[in-house]
Amino acid sequence: MSGDLSPQAMLPQDRAKQAAADAAAAIVEDGMLVGLGSGTTLRRFVRSLGLRVGQGLRITGVPTSESTRALAVELGISVADLNDVSELDLVLDGADEIDPQGQMIKGGGGNLLWEKIVATAGQRFVAVIDESKPVAHLGKFPLPVEVVRFGWRSTERQIRGLFVESGFLEPAMTLRGGEASPFVTDGGHYILDCALGEITHPEPLAIALDRIAGVVENGLFIDIARSAIIGKPDGTVETVTYD
Ligand code: A5P
Repeated sequence: MSGDLSPQAMLPQDRAKQAAADAAAAIVEDGMLVGLGSGTTLRRFVRSLGLRVGQGLRITGVPTSESTRALAVELGISVADLNDVSELDLVLDGADEIDPQGQMIKGGGGNLLWEKIVATAGQRFVAVIDESKPVAHLGKFPLPVEVVRFGWRSTERQIRGLFVESGFLEPAMTLRGGEASPFVTDGGHYILDCALGEITHPEPLAIALDRIAGVVENGLFIDIARSAIIGKPDGTVETVTYD
């Protein structure tokens, strides 16, 4: 896979992801309980962390997906279930978009529910991203909404109604994977990808979405990120902090 290529052979975006992943691995300290996010950038991070563990770093990781768990175990990283640990010292995860206040859209990889549970179980969340992810306003990336399978069409209608009430006139909503073979999350749910355009007030929208019966979680991660490590294709990183 591309994560195993030399830097020269990588695409510019992959080089940027690798730079962020390496810098993120460097902030993990011995003895930490660390939330391990999901997605392509986080897989690079887990590999970088695995190298440090191979050199003697002792940490315990709490994965946000079955795929991250499998990768961590393969690399010899000690993993634990969230139920079996106390507050996490640090959570590292990717993002699909992040605005200047640190509000994020996540879930492009299909792991938003478990990611949000782990993200809010930590003292400090650091977004590990490439330079394509910071945006002036959220919403160009379709917002993932995780819904219970039972009655999902009814839930979809109610979500659409909320969007229209909120001023999104033509929300385009698609069932991830398509109706013939819908994508199913690790938690056993469906995802509706909602193309809304610019989201000017993400917080009230997130609250209203969570009030709809059948919505398990939405991809707006509000007031969670404390900082972001932003990788660039030249291998440098920029760290941004949020109040
Ligand atoms: C997983 O569902 C997501 O929240 C990812 O963290 C997000 O999609 C970013 O993924 P990439 O690092 O692959 O862009």
